Amino acid sequence: MIDRRRFLYTTAGALLASCRRRPERTDAGLCEASVPVTARRLDPLHPDALARFVDPLPIPPVLKPDGTRADPGAPGREIPYYRVPMREVSVAVHRDVPPTRVWTYAGSFPGPTFETRAGRGLLVEWANELPGRHFLPIDHSLCGADADRAEVRTVVHVHGARVPSESDGYPEDWYTPGRSALCHYPNEQEAATLWYHDHAMGIERLNQYAGLFGMFLVRDDVEDALRLPAGAYEVPLMLSDRLLDAQGQLVYPVSDDPKAPWVPELYGDALLVNGKLYPYLQVEPRAYRLRIVNASNTRVYYLSLSSGQAIEQIGSDQGLLAAPAPQPIVTLAPAERADVVVDFTEAAGQEVVLQNKPFQLLQFRVAPLRTAARAKTALPASLRSVPRTPAAAAVKTRFLTLNEYEVPKTHAMLMLLNAARWHDPVTERPALGSVEIWELANLTEDTHPIHLHMVRFQVLERQAFDADRYNSHGTMKVTGDPVPPAPEEAGWKDTVRAEPGFITRIIVRFEGYKGRYLWHCHILEHAANEMMRPFEVVA
Ligand code: C2O
Ligand code: CU
Ligand code: CU
Repeated sequence: MIDRRRFLYTTAGALLASCRRRPERTDAGLCEASVPVTARRLDPLHPDALARFVDPLPIPPVLKPDGTRADPGAPGREIPYYRVPMREVSVAVHRDVPPTRVWTYAGSFPGPTFETRAGRGLLVEWANELPGRHFLPIDHSLCGADADRAEVRTVVHVHGARVPSESDGYPEDWYTPGRSALCHYPNEQEAATLWYHDHAMGIERLNQYAGLFGMFLVRDDVEDALRLPAGAYEVPLMLSDRLLDAQGQLVYPVSDDPKAPWVPELYGDALLVNGKLYPYLQVEPRAYRLRIVNASNTRVYYLSLSSGQAIEQIGSDQGLLAAPAPQPIVTLAPAERADVVVDFTEAAGQEVVLQNKPFQLLQFRVAPLRTAARAKTALPASLRSVPRTPAAAAVKTRFLTLNEYEVPKTHAMLMLLNAARWHDPVTERPALGSVEIWELANLTEDTHPIHLHMVRFQVLERQAFDADRYNSHGTMKVTGDPVPPAPEEAGWKDTVRAEPGFITRIIVRFEGYKGRYLWHCHILEHAANEMMRPFEVVA
């Protein structure tokens, strides 16, 4: 473990150093390209110069089971079995861009969608059939990516799934080409927009960037009863930004140090929706349900519609909100999800663009009204009961800091959770079924989307504090009143934005299974550089 005192007294210096390395800051407090990445691409593709809205939006195929197998949780019962091979393929990200090499699940970029039901388990055999060499720059100085390890290692995690530890995709449980892992997803949880992605220690950011992610939907009777737009009127949207060269190939930027090519952030200028650049979708003048996942490494999205109409948010990471929450802008940090409804009735005959200003993401081409104008379909006023977990239910409160740390002498940067590294002893050992409050005190200048595996939680509140004082003296002084979450953040979450200069308090019931899990920042570059820690659910 890093010496806490030294840590405290060096953090201020580390912050200065990191700011010097990050000239361009956005309003959101996150930096755009910390290294001049375009300068590194000898022959960059300029997405700005491409024709817009010439390709239809791809919809990833829905997976079909490959038979059934015995349910590990209930002897004598059979449950669906899927085999999903990971394969290298070439895809067209745009009509006028040469084919791009990507790594996929089952040949699809993004991977195929799982359609599942709450309470009905399934088995998935994830088979690594990738080539023997990686095509993106591995940093062998990072934890778990040592040069004597195989280059191509994968392990799949279903983000947001309540699963036994051995099926959760622990980062060290990776396997090499020619091998596979059989995972059991009991699905004992409510309807939600989950997603799956690679989690291999030290290279997860490269594997996901290469294309290893897809959607995993859990449905249930409560959701069905709401009669939300379904079938062709329910559209998955996976957002991922990439840097490409003029040959259409993925570029992952590197630092100036060939021995430590890690970069602290990845911002692509090609913003892909379901793997396409500037796609369009033909829609009818009616309500659509959009299931949006931020599958980007670093980028936070601020989604809005060019028509100016509000987006009705009906769900967040772990399922339906208590009631629809109209949003002029939907904010999604990496790994966060928004389940939304957009009614195109009033845009009949027009074009509406989903945007992340100044970027255009997706154009909806709304058909004209064929019959007499239909009334807008009203959303149910209440969606699902989301009982608030009272703070008094917590048996323990943990104060946990989020840190950027500069290693003395080498000046290497580390991003840490509570000043500890991945291999330090496990310090978070909640009891199965117990409720805890985790206070995430962000001492850095970045927003960190913090994710806990296996559990769902609620945001209690955020409270401003004096981070400079904490960094220099180690004493806590709050500077504002606690602020409760906005309606769109008041549902069940599994990833929360910990804003700089704030303590973000979450309340978690460790419901599910005993065993080793993890929590981490979902900026994949941060997670790879130690902003990831195990936790253990104990009896
Ligand atoms: Cu999206 Cu550790 O997960
Ligand atoms: Cu996860
Ligand atoms: Cu982070």
